[in-house]
Amino acid sequence: MKILSIETSCDETAISIVEATGDFPSATYEILGNALYSQIEIHKEYGGVFPALAKREHIKTVVPMLQSALEEAGLITSTTQKLPAELIEKLGKILEREEGLATELVTFFENNEIPNIDLIAVTSGPGLEPALWVGINFAKALSAITKAPVLPINHMEGHILASIYDVVEDDQLVQIAFPAIALLISGGHTELVLMEDWITYKKIGQTKDDAVGEAFDKVARMLDIPYPGGPEVSRRAKEAREQNLPPYKADLPRPMLHSGDLSFSFSGLKTSVRYAIEGKTLTEDEKKALCRDFEDAVTEVLLKKSKDALTQYDARTLVIGGGVSANEYIRRTFQFELLTSHPDVEVYIPQPKLSTDNSIMIALAGHAHKEHASTAGAIALIKADGNKGL
Ligand code: KG4
Ligand code: ZN
Repeated sequence: MKILSIETSCDETAISIVEATGDFPSATYEILGNALYSQIEIHKEYGGVFPALAKREHIKTVVPMLQSALEEAGLITSTTQKLPAELIEKLGKILEREEGLATELVTFFENNEIPNIDLIAVTSGPGLEPALWVGINFAKALSAITKAPVLPINHMEGHILASIYDVVEDDQLVQIAFPAIALLISGGHTELVLMEDWITYKKIGQTKDDAVGEAFDKVARMLDIPYPGGPEVSRRAKEAREQNLPPYKADLPRPMLHSGDLSFSFSGLKTSVRYAIEGKTLTEDEKKALCRDFEDAVTEVLLKKSKDALTQYDARTLVIGGGVSANEYIRRTFQFELLTSHPDVEVYIPQPKLSTDNSIMIALAGHAHKEHASTAGAIALIKADGNKGL
């Protein structure tokens, strides 16, 4: 089946066409088309993602992304046709809050044939509401045009499946051993999830305040490091290790390390960084050293809590997902440390291009839930905690 997937939960506008052959979880997934536009340059100026601006950019780029994904998939055939008046009116209603988008979409399908799509999967949460709605309404509009059913997808489930999608071997999901623990680390989330089987999720730990990616981004801002902070802080930390720089503040706290539960907290760590630099002008080397000290503290906490979860649930698999899983040091440390502490546990980390937000992961999750797709167009916005235990 051909799945068209849409991701607009934050600052990436992404659309993919994925051909799934067979049944979940042993299907083969061929990526026919994949288009992604990152708004990073636009948000850089503000040091973070601005929801209203993100919405505007999604509206502007979602049709070009659709075109690019369809083109790559060989699903574009130009034509000249008139869409029925009732359909045009319906599209106008569905997209009434996305200024100009209905007209753009109508023009697109009056110049290109309507493609054969079997399922439309769209991120419905968690994420920035104004941004999510663009994707959801666009999915509904595409459903009205193509007659394909729509399926709302939880973004975090997408991150989990992206981590076990093995394009190198055979374009399939790895048949992981259960119970599995997922460590989800992104800009909005830090959580540990227990999977006793496919598609069953139970949150067993989460942050009490900031998400780990958010802490990276905030520390970056304090150090005048450009947005997005995560990769930039990580790059400096790497240089500090290569140069063997002395610690700037090696006694940064490891929040909740010994709390005895699976909760996280990163706001105190961020505050400690703020105190450490208050009233001072840091040299580039001092900044690098502090980035490394911060990354060390974060990694130590994430590792300890993940190990605790693995032991507590006698798990056989650890899946690390979310944007922060792109962090090289965290990847390396987990792989190395777990080799000795939990040699029987397999660790899965997404290939770099699937670490941060993308729509391929939404197609994978769409396939997992395909029987729940609806043509009624009645998809609700799913809140962060409201979906399938994630
Ligand atoms: O999953 P994602 O793309 O978007 C959300 O769902 O939030 O994650 C984005 C987060 C940002 O906070 C970004 O700074 C962080 O992931 N990130 C990193 C790295 N690459 C992205 N954090 C640390 N090291 C990285 N290499
Ligand atoms: Zn994400």
